[in-house]
Amino acid sequence: MQDYVTLTYRGESFQLPVIVGSENERAIDILRLRKETGFITYDPGYANSGACMSSITYMNGEQGILRYRGIPVEELAEKSTFKETAYLLINGQLPKADELRNFSIMLNDHSLVHEDMKAFYQNFPRASHPMGILSAMVNALRSFYPELQTTEEEINFTVTRLLAKVRTMAAMSYKISRGHTLVYPRPDLAYCENFLNMMFDTPVRPYQLTKEVVRALEVFWILHADHEQNCSTTAVRVVGSGRVNLYAAISAGMSALWGPLHGGANQAVVEMLTAIHQDGGNFRGAVARAKDRNDPFRLMGFGHRVYKTYDPRARIMKRVCDDLLAALNLKDPLLDIAKELEEVALKDPYFIDHNLYPNVDFYSGIVLRAIGIPTNMFTVMFAIGRLPGWISQWKESMDDPHWRISRPRQIYTGPNETHYVPMQDRT
Ligand code: CMC
Repeated sequence: MQDYVTLTYRGESFQLPVIVGSENERAIDILRLRKETGFITYDPGYANSGACMSSITYMNGEQGILRYRGIPVEELAEKSTFKETAYLLINGQLPKADELRNFSIMLNDHSLVHEDMKAFYQNFPRASHPMGILSAMVNALRSFYPELQTTEEEINFTVTRLLAKVRTMAAMSYKISRGHTLVYPRPDLAYCENFLNMMFDTPVRPYQLTKEVVRALEVFWILHADHEQNCSTTAVRVVGSGRVNLYAAISAGMSALWGPLHGGANQAVVEMLTAIHQDGGNFRGAVARAKDRNDPFRLMGFGHRVYKTYDPRARIMKRVCDDLLAALNLKDPLLDIAKELEEVALKDPYFIDHNLYPNVDFYSGIVLRAIGIPTNMFTVMFAIGRLPGWISQWKESMDDPHWRISRPRQIYTGPNETHYVPMQDRT
């Protein structure tokens, strides 16, 4: 039975249909609102607006639940690999053995980057941020691989090519930034191992893969693989809605991710923890600043638009962080500061009242540091992880029977009609 809500304005009533999702999430369907009532809705930051129906990821911010295609992220972090999780997100179900094998072959076959792209890399100014380079290079892929993406086969091909190449491109940008010889992908190595080898292998010191580092990276990428309609995914969908090519839509997502309130937070957290460390470990001062309304400072890695409880990804990331540091026999003073900061913040009435808990970025930077990733590459690591999510959301939007170009409205607050005044008459 179809339910409705009733909207009443100055004695007139309008019926608006109710939509219910598979986890009983409720929405009011306002598709006909403007046509029938002349009203639009006002919702800055889209905090209460559903922009699509999606079967990819389920999040419950009150209960701290995150599932990809119905599978809890905790299970995937324990049992899956990033490659398998990427397949799950993009194709809707876990792969059978031969499907995973074919996917691996495709990823290997397309992992090389056109040699002409090296010239692009080499001509970026030395101080360029790797996120700026990566988003520009992903957009440039379209010029190197301009084939059409219309049939399902062509789309799947482009998607796999992108997944394969982004990992190589990210490692390339690091090597070039250091002035080191490029390391090419190796067909005998799996997805994460290949990336680590391309990043850290040098002619004078061959990189030794360790299973703890590989597993930490797998989990890091699994935890970042999708997060429903976040800022960068929304950018991918909005830009994609104009029917641009996949590379342009993903490049837009990468640009959105770069911001410190979004994926750039992992870099911002480590910079914040480093500043606290240099300030003699004064984490209480940071908590006090974060609470001060007259100070723009925020505790980076804390708070989330959707999670009003502990971010389930942060819980796993904290464990990965402890395990990795123990396995590598590393001691990071930033981890001690992070734990003290968390303990104080979680007991503080301001953080309790505002439902502010650590998010995924709070501990992830320390994991990346332990792996050897430089701070300015942290958001690139997030981007590689989020790629399957962006791709699956883009694919879903392309097949959406309710697809329309993204084009919100506004409430105009400027001057009413006025007229051009010649220069000599302006006072
Ligand atoms: N430190 C101190 N106060 C905070 C923080 C914080 N990290 N986050 C939110 N608040 C306060 C904010 O000042 C506001 O207070 P009041 O209502 O008294 O004015 C209230 O909490 C609500 O904040 P908001 O900015 O309206 O919340 P939002 O949902 O628009 O923003 C957020 C969410 C993630 C941008 C925000 O919590 C934030 O800036 N956090 C720090 C940056 C960060 O860690 N980002 C990573 C997010 S997780 C990775 C990802 O998926 O992107």
